[in-house]
Amino acid sequence: MRILSGVQPSGKLHIGNYFGAIRQFVEYQDKAEESLYFIADLHSLTTLRDGTKIREYSHDVALDFLALGLDPERAILFRQSDIPEVAQLYWILGAVTPVGLLERGHSFKDKTARGLPADAGLLTYPVLMAADILLYGTDKVPVGKDQKQHLEFARDICTKFNLTFVPGFDSQDPDGSRTKAPGILKSPEPIILDETAVVPGIDGQKMSKAYGNTIDIFAPEKVVKKRIMSIKTDSTPIEAPKPPDSALYQLLQILAPRDEADEIESTWLEGGVGYGTYKKRLVELFHETFGQARARRKKLEADPEAVSRILSQGARRARELAAPTWNKIVEATGVGIEIEV
Ligand code: TYM
Repeated sequence: MRILSGVQPSGKLHIGNYFGAIRQFVEYQDKAEESLYFIADLHSLTTLRDGTKIREYSHDVALDFLALGLDPERAILFRQSDIPEVAQLYWILGAVTPVGLLERGHSFKDKTARGLPADAGLLTYPVLMAADILLYGTDKVPVGKDQKQHLEFARDICTKFNLTFVPGFDSQDPDGSRTKAPGILKSPEPIILDETAVVPGIDGQKMSKAYGNTIDIFAPEKVVKKRIMSIKTDSTPIEAPKPPDSALYQLLQILAPRDEADEIESTWLEGGVGYGTYKKRLVELFHETFGQARARRKKLEADPEAVSRILSQGARRARELAAPTWNKIVEATGVGIEIEV
């Protein structure tokens, strides 16, 4: 099984990124035959137009990956733009992707509704994501729920490519066991965990850089405390039962160990504990969860060269894994240069 996923270097990583995605990345580096995790710097150009910042944030995400437990011996860590075939495949896939499909994109609609200009890159963002996934013959993609539709698009685009470029391809028989015409591209499946599909931010909406409601994993201690203490709560008195539809409650359920989460569930529903007490406990749980990673990151910061080496080695390995699929794409489409392995 081959696992792949990416994170945009568009700011600091938050606990939504961790529980929605990166925690699964760490788990799969042992479970999967190959796992590939990359820094989606090309994607971040849709919102960030500052070379110095993109470089800095890309380096930061690499440090975050390592600090959070990704191991370059067990997982392939790389930067998206180090693989030139990704951008070429993006174009090839774009040639067979209906605009109508992209116009249905939730993320495109949401971002343009919030006032971002409707640039072509924003519209075709899912095509680049499909290229990321399909280039490496990925089986599974661990992501948060906000990426679910992008995965559906990747599957649609995959089928469209195979139907266009593989004579005799039948989407009901993608492996070609009956038709003897297997697809060149493999259809990927998402991995989305129910409990952490949407981690709420301090205002109760989905945690997101764009909403300014994040709790950042590597923020200074004081900032973390302030963010947690400012999680929105209502005026339910200490003695009264609390409404479970609350960001504070959901975050406690995500961060607390199982036994404690059950205990919190009963006190929350019965009443007797105030929001302030719960918030203090959440601060502690934050440090119990991320304390080691925060210390590790400080050490890693001292050696920026090591991070660059890990990323260039990762890119070499990722490109080797891409070669078999890419070379078939070149053969079938008549464009591009084969990768020699
Ligand atoms: P990005 O950088 O926005 O987020 C990285 C990962 O974190 C997850 N996530 C969340 N999960 C649960 N609750 C939240 N509040 C929350 N916020 C973020 C995201 O779902 C994601 O899994 N388009 C992608 C990057 C990408 C990619 C890919 C992913 C580019 N190419 C190919 C997978 C495969 C993105 O913007 O993620």
